[in-house]
Amino acid sequence: MNSAEFVKSLKEKYFGNNYEKLDSIKASYPSIGTKSFSILTKDWAMGELWHAEDAASQALRFKVEDDIKVALFEQSWEEANHFQLLAQFVRARGEKFDIDEWYNEVVINAPEWRAIYDYNPNDPVLYFAARNFAGETVGDYWMRKVADLPGLDEKFRDEAVLPQIEDEGKHAPLGSRVLERYCSTEENQRKAELGVKIGLANNAKGVAAMLRHAGIE
Ligand SMILES: [Fe+2]
Ligand SMILES: [Fe+2]
Repeated sequence: MNSAEFVKSLKEKYFGNNYEKLDSIKASYPSIGTKSFSILTKDWAMGELWHAEDAASQALRFKVEDDIKVALFEQSWEEANHFQLLAQFVRARGEKFDIDEWYNEVVINAPEWRAIYDYNPNDPVLYFAARNFAGETVGDYWMRKVADLPGLDEKFRDEAVLPQIEDEGKHAPLGSRVLERYCSTEENQRKAELGVKIGLANNAKGVAAMLRHAGIE
């Protein structure tokens, strides 16, 4: 199978034709109390910050072509911006948000959320399969579900969620682009599939942990 056919089949196998295989991902926000809203938003913000850090450090160390390095740096900048959008929203509500304290809070009480960001393999095929191809697809899908929730605070939707969805649409295609370039061998195709499984497992557990942390489940 050539790499383009392989990536297409990987997408269908793990996401479904209309992403219906990701439908078990739960989104929540309206009808939850202020405390839950705050925890969920802080956890989300931290995820954006951690992804910004990972993308920049992987861009520095991966031996990949220049355009992929630059795309990862761009992603890093965008994820850092997403952190700021969410953090500003939390702080504008008059809440304290100390990122060092919140790091420890997540490590203790929602470690599976942090685990998504601890997966930084040295191999670019594994990394992009897990973090972009699978992880960003889940992230993008989850945010679209959040944006569609009836009763969601409009200011939050317009100022914190929609600008992120616009950017996230670029990060998952970066995963496809890298896999299409590198997955011409059976060995890399096997690695890519493993990366997708890890990414989907980490993200499913991570989102569930984040919701539990906010007291939603
Ligand atoms: Fe983001
Ligand atoms: Fe992203």
